[in-house]
Amino acid sequence: MFSERIERLTGSLIREILSAAQRPEVISFAGGLPAPQCLPALDFSALPPGLAQYGTTEGEPALREAVAAHARDSLGIDCQAEQVLVLSGSQQAIDLISKLFIDPGTPVLTEGPTYLAALQSFNLFGARITAVPQEDGALSPAALAEALARAQPRFSYLIPSFQNPSGACYTEANRRALAEVLDHAGAPVIEDDPYRALSYDGEAPAPLVSHLKKAPWVYCGSFSKTLAPGLRVGFLIASPDLYPYLVKIKQSTDLHTNRPGQWQVLQLLQSPDFPAHLDRLRAVYRAGRDAMQAALERHFADLADWEVPKGGLFFWLTLRTRQDTRVLMQRALAHDVAFMPGEPFYPVPEEGLGHLRLNFSHASAERIEEGIARLAQIIRNA
Ligand SMILES: Cc1ncc(COP(=O)(O)O)c(C=O)c1O
Repeated sequence: MFSERIERLTGSLIREILSAAQRPEVISFAGGLPAPQCLPALDFSALPPGLAQYGTTEGEPALREAVAAHARDSLGIDCQAEQVLVLSGSQQAIDLISKLFIDPGTPVLTEGPTYLAALQSFNLFGARITAVPQEDGALSPAALAEALARAQPRFSYLIPSFQNPSGACYTEANRRALAEVLDHAGAPVIEDDPYRALSYDGEAPAPLVSHLKKAPWVYCGSFSKTLAPGLRVGFLIASPDLYPYLVKIKQSTDLHTNRPGQWQVLQLLQSPDFPAHLDRLRAVYRAGRDAMQAALERHFADLADWEVPKGGLFFWLTLRTRQDTRVLMQRALAHDVAFMPGEPFYPVPEEGLGHLRLNFSHASAERIEEGIARLAQIIRNA
């Protein structure tokens, strides 16, 4: 009845966790939700009536200009507004890229671990995924070179800044070395960068794609983490050799991104309050991060190892006793605590046993302490 790719659909575990985590008594570290008090008030009262009409696939011109100017002036990406495609969330970049590049059996390279919804999409289209393990918050250029030579991927997908799930943020030197290796291989580079603005101990270094000299590239960004995920507005910027294909694929996907959402994003970005809004966001999330770090030090010191994330929304724990955290998650839910098991963040889940992803942006400091203590107890009992 369905296409052959439907056999590769995954995701029931995550849906199960997130729906169970919505019970009010559950302390949830599972999702990646912004704190409710950090969501800006939306105001559509001055929405130009013309925006009720169909728009262009590429996106609203003023928003494309704003995105390109920021990428050029603040991130060092050499680009024009003509290279910006406004998206229905940056998740759509992953879908468009999957459609552009992946046939059943197509080799694709990612970090290990990597964003699970990217894995879901790449798998749906039938990719054969090679993951390069992150080591001490970096990706080894030698390991990347070896994997590129061995797997010959059609593209590489990387999240160098405050990675989901590991929280790693590659140094400037690491990015330059990786860019050199990727340029040498010549295959397209996809850089996914939704967490860049959520930095708590100084800015992330310039995007990796800003160091590329030859390889085709796509840089993906989002307004979900800084403004409002419900607006579903993100963007990609692509090198001129890839851009026209991505526009045509988007056209056949949804014609264009919703115009009132694009307009609202631009109002918020251009509001004089935007810098203060970002400062508030960072202050709230930094406090959440510090509360979770303190709770982990109290309850997990002998159970797991982790790095304090300098940005993003997650702690990534490696349990000292290797165990399947999907089983642990069922026990945790029975005790009204939710977290995200680590296994689905690896192309081969069984190769990623024993990690937990813990979100710190949503629960209050009191609930973080209570939830971490409860989770530690569950692991000890297991
Ligand atoms: C690495 C990464 N890429 C993309 C997305 C999708 O974000 P958006 O809400 O812009 O679709 C997320 C969301 O959590 C993410 O973590």
